[in-house]
Amino acid sequence: MYKYKKVKNGNLASWNDRYILSLDNHVEIVEALADFCRKKNILAGNILGIGAVSEATFRFLDPATLKYVDKTFTEQMEITNLTGNISEKDGEPYLHIHLTCSRRDYTCIGGHLLSARINGACELLVDDFSMTDVGRVKDSETGLNLYDFGDGMGLLSRFTKK
Ligand SMILES: [Fe+2]
Repeated sequence: MYKYKKVKNGNLASWNDRYILSLDNHVEIVEALADFCRKKNILAGNILGIGAVSEATFRFLDPATLKYVDKTFTEQMEITNLTGNISEKDGEPYLHIHLTCSRRDYTCIGGHLLSARINGACELLVDDFSMTDVGRVKDSETGLNLYDFGDGMGLLSRFTKK
């Protein structure tokens, strides 16, 4: 599904781990990243990437109705930017990813990413800050799962898992 390499962080005092990933052609990006985070037990972090896809599904939350509107684009597109973060929800990695893609005519589309299928390559950088407690809690006003910085107790579960 992917190849990866751990890279040394330049800051020796840092607890963070950093990985370079190359996802295999035709895999679904969110699924591959979730698999990687589960295997590496990454429960807080940051994601950056570029690549190319043949299909992408985005989700738009209408703030007036709190209803989701999903839309799929099936065409060859370049990923001009994939940006995301990793937190923890119910003991599992929770990915929040936004994607911007350029089309054949060089216009761009983008939004909150639900899924995207690689057609070409996808190269990513994942920073693991799992020494930080970053959870999610449902916010009734916005309907969003917002950050919950917790009380630090979540860290304990990280060291007793795997
Ligand atoms: Fe989002």
